[in-house]
Amino acid sequence: MKAFSLKNMSSASYGGLIEKIEVLRSSIRFTPGLTSEAKQTLNRQVAELREELMLLSRKERADTTPLLNKARAQSKKTPKTTQTTTYRRESLLERNFVFEGVFGDSPKLLDAFEIAEKAAPTNLPVLIEGESGTGKELMAKVVHANGKRSDKPFVSVNCGAIPENLLESELFGHKKGAFTGASSDRSGKFESANTGTIFLDEIGEMPLIGQVKLLRVLQANEIQRVGSDEITKVDTRIVAATNRDLLKMSQEGTFREDLYYRLGVIHVTLPALRERKDEISVLIEYFCDEAAESLERRPINISPTLYHFLQNYQYPGNIRELRNIIYRLSCLADETAEIYHLPEAIKPKDRPESTGKGAEMSLADIKKAASDDAEKHYLKEGLKTVNGKVSALAAITGMNRSYLQTLLKKHGIHSKEFKRTNKSNEPE
Ligand SMILES: Nc1ncnc2c1ncn2[C@@H]1O[C@H](COP(=O)(O)OP(=O)(O)OP(=O)(O)O)[C@@H](O)[C@H]1O
Ligand SMILES: [Mg+2]
Repeated sequence: MKAFSLKNMSSASYGGLIEKIEVLRSSIRFTPGLTSEAKQTLNRQVAELREELMLLSRKERADTTPLLNKARAQSKKTPKTTQTTTYRRESLLERNFVFEGVFGDSPKLLDAFEIAEKAAPTNLPVLIEGESGTGKELMAKVVHANGKRSDKPFVSVNCGAIPENLLESELFGHKKGAFTGASSDRSGKFESANTGTIFLDEIGEMPLIGQVKLLRVLQANEIQRVGSDEITKVDTRIVAATNRDLLKMSQEGTFREDLYYRLGVIHVTLPALRERKDEISVLIEYFCDEAAESLERRPINISPTLYHFLQNYQYPGNIRELRNIIYRLSCLADETAEIYHLPEAIKPKDRPESTGKGAEMSLADIKKAASDDAEKHYLKEGLKTVNGKVSALAAITGMNRSYLQTLLKKHGIHSKEFKRTNKSNEPE
């Protein structure tokens, strides 16, 4: 299943386990190729699993409820701005928020999730704004999956990818003979999404003529197939997304102002990845596991220098770019991905000051990265000489064993791999 991995979700708490189950549940919903029978069976099993987990957690919950209630009572009095982001994140998970992916506790992202969660059970149109690759489509699925229509269709239309002359027929369908090539009656996306949600991606690319027709659906909930006089009622919830400034476009006359205000009853704004850098490490881990699953290999380790680069890069392509980078690294690296595995266009050059848009490494950063690399090399060489025995390495180096274990973990080194007797199998 795409974008789904159980290994990497953050905590082992009940909240964390429920999160994993919710991820599983939403993955089932969005997995193409499963029959509805199979989906029902899987959903039933997931529901049972969830029920068992809730039973197991009852005692613990009873113990912690007074604390939770206290925190909730406190939070009612406390304005959102002073609530901790960890509390806000935990509360979302407590409320069984469905999300396919991972998120940390970036305040801007939590703002977006909290708005989406409140909007989800209503039928109000939602406009999702954000740069390319920030997760707008995922957010549209959040609105759908957390609402009353979650078991109904979710139909996605990329308004920027359909030629202008076909857009109307694509959205509203057509009658046989309506235009050359219309050889039979055909329903459009709005009818397919009836009772469910239609996701109008790249709405800013929709030509003005299509915008007028869309306005009609928003005003009267009815559509007219191209070439037909008949009017059909539809009950389709509209979620739209854009990476453009629609307000500015409407002021310039390239987007209808009335449509802008109709669509944007609720605005959800996704922050760029560079504005939520604290989430980068969670996403790296998630995508390393996801890529490993898809490429059928072990998850890669990332060298400290590369890790530092990934933490500080500006990501003009946002989460999609980070995901692509991790997939590339997972494909090219043997055990540990290094800076030279990066795509040429973003790879920092030898001189740190010439690294351009990406690296921004100070001398202190470079020193730290070099020292990390040296430490890793030292540990690997040491393990080779003691045939992978951590206690022996601790004795030779005079280091405390548990500290040594911490260092090995930090560098993603597995001592077991140095136990092989055949030297040719040893990692370099
Ligand atoms: N929080 C997240 N956790 C895991 N994966 C994520 C997350 N957010 C986004 N992604 C992944 O990043 C990629 C880009 O997300 P998505 O397609 O939703 O972005 P978008 O804003 O619609 O992009 P575009 O504007 O280019 O259409 C997808 O592969 C998506 O699964
Ligand atoms: Mg998109």
